[in-house]
Amino acid sequence: MRYLTFALAKGRLARKTMELLEQLGICCEEFYDSETRRLIFTDETHKMKFFLAKASDVPTYVEYGAADVGVVGRDTILEEGRKLYEVLDLGLGRCRMCVCGPERFRECLKHHERIRVATKYPAIAKDYFYNRKQQTVEIIKLNGSVELAPLVGLSEVIVDIVETGSTLRENGLAVLEEICDLSARVVVNQVSMKMENERITDLIRQMRKLVKERNQ
Ligand code: PRP
Repeated sequence: MRYLTFALAKGRLARKTMELLEQLGICCEEFYDSETRRLIFTDETHKMKFFLAKASDVPTYVEYGAADVGVVGRDTILEEGRKLYEVLDLGLGRCRMCVCGPERFRECLKHHERIRVATKYPAIAKDYFYNRKQQTVEIIKLNGSVELAPLVGLSEVIVDIVETGSTLRENGLAVLEEICDLSARVVVNQVSMKMENERITDLIRQMRKLVKERNQ
């Protein structure tokens, strides 16, 4: 039996995913060793390998088949636009992708004015404004702390993730429009889904059951 390889977005999501898999008896003790420099963790019993990657790289590993399965946020999946199957909503890290900004720009958005939009997610912003709203805007790519942009006059609004809304509130910004709901998803390589169908669908079925039980 060949190894089934998993790419996990490093951080809290990877730990949560491993906890979920542990409930299915899948376990790599080394994963929890904070001292280790190891990049790949193995469960020999189940013939599975796990590696941690930067979230935005997870869809790339999965599309090319370097990983059969990936666990990553829907924000990253939408932004990267890779060819893969999205098979399960883990319900972890629920949040929303929104257009945010000072309240006074709500009208500009409604009237389709040509405004500047700062974001870490230019593909999502482009799809929303150009395809869904059919509004011409100028998109400015940033790499973090996006809420700063309207505060210092780089842009009128931002497209960003809103979880509790406290970052917005503390900076005098508001949700002006909602783009979509987000949460962690399991994605699968399209060839792996055919070649390892039984193993993968069986695993997904078990994971789905756990997610359902947790949500009850
Ligand atoms: C994310 C997001 C918002 C914040 C939203 O940023 O970009 O800034 O969390 O959370 P809240 O609604 O609960 O306040 P993150 O901390 O991931 O870092 P970033 O600023 O580098 O994007």
